[in-house]
Amino acid sequence: MKGIILAGGSGTRLSPSTLSINKHLIPVYDKPMIYYPLSVLMLGGIKEVLIISTPHDVSRFKDLLGNGESLGISISYLSQEDPNGIPEALVIGEHFIGKDDVTLMLGDNIFYGQGFTTLFRKAIKNHEHATIFGYRVKDPERFGVAEFNERKKVVSLEEKPDDPKSDFAVTGLYIYDHHAVEIAKHLEPSERGELEITDLNKEYLKMNKLNVELLGRGFAWMDAGTHESLFEASEFVKNIQQRQGFKLACLEEISYYMGYINKDDLIDMGNSMAKNDYGRYLLDIANRKHIEQYWDDLVGHPMLEVMSHE
Ligand code: TTP
Repeated sequence: MKGIILAGGSGTRLSPSTLSINKHLIPVYDKPMIYYPLSVLMLGGIKEVLIISTPHDVSRFKDLLGNGESLGISISYLSQEDPNGIPEALVIGEHFIGKDDVTLMLGDNIFYGQGFTTLFRKAIKNHEHATIFGYRVKDPERFGVAEFNERKKVVSLEEKPDDPKSDFAVTGLYIYDHHAVEIAKHLEPSERGELEITDLNKEYLKMNKLNVELLGRGFAWMDAGTHESLFEASEFVKNIQQRQGFKLACLEEISYYMGYINKDDLIDMGNSMAKNDYGRYLLDIANRKHIEQYWDDLVGHPMLEVMSHE
C-alpha cells in the first residue's frame, strides 16, 4: 500500500494567512498541519509516501520532512501545477502508485479517536477496489454525501447536495486499487472546473465496487481549512494533549513505536528541540526504562492502541 497526501490547493479560505505560506505548513497547535495526515498513514503501516503540493511549495515540505529517512519511511514529492481537483493526485502519482493499492489523504484532514488505527488498518487489510470513510455531520450539504442501506452498502453519492439523502459526509481519506488512476484520467471537470473525487467514487459505485467504513460518534474528524475550524482543531489538540499527556500526531513517537527508529535516534531528535515541550516530550519517551512500559501506558491511547495488541 502506497500513501499520497495532497497538500496543494489555494487555501483561499485561510487568506491572508495563506498568501505566503502553504496551508498545510501552518501549525495546528504545536506542529505543522501536514503532521496529522502523515501520522495517519504511518499508523496505517504505510512506509512509502508521496506528498503533492504546488510547484512553489514543494521545497518547503522537503525542508520540513526531507526524504523521510529520519522517520524510517520514504517520502517523495511531486507538484500539481494548478488546483484542478483531488483526483488529479492519482494521475500525478501514476508512476509512484504503479500496480499497488493507494491511500489518498487530504492534507488538511485530522482524524482522532479510540480505535481509529485499528479501523484504518482493518480497512487496508480487507480492502478491495475502493473504500471511503463516512462521518455523521450536522451540515452534510457542505460535503460529498453517502447514502447507504442497512448492510452498509453505498447506494448513492452526491457532491454538496441541496437536499442530502443522509447525514454522512465522505471524509478526505480514500483507499483505491491502481485502476483509480485510469478512472481519474477519464473524468471530466465539473461545473466549477475541477475534477471531483465524488465523480471518481461514483465510478466505483457504478461497478458495485465502493465500500464505506463508518466512523462512529467516538471519533473526531476535522478539516482545518477555515479560520474557525483551524482554531477549533488547535484547541482540540491542545485540550487532549494537556489532559492526557500524550501528543497527537507526533511523527517521531510513532516511528519509535513502529520500530523504524531506535532510542538514540529519538534522543538526538529530542535534544535538537530540547528547549521546547515537543523536544522534551521525545526525551521523556526515550528515557523510559523499558519499551514494554509503553505498552501498558498506551492501552487506551486512541491513536496507538493497535500497537499494544500486536
Ligand atoms: P479545498 O479545501 O477544497 O481547497 P483549498 O485547500 O484550495 O482551500 P480553499 O477552498 O480555501 O481555497 O481542498 C481540500 C484539500 O485538498 C486541501 O488539503 C488542499 C487539497 N487540494 C489540492 O491539493 N489540490 C486541489 O486541486 C484541490 C481541489 C485540493
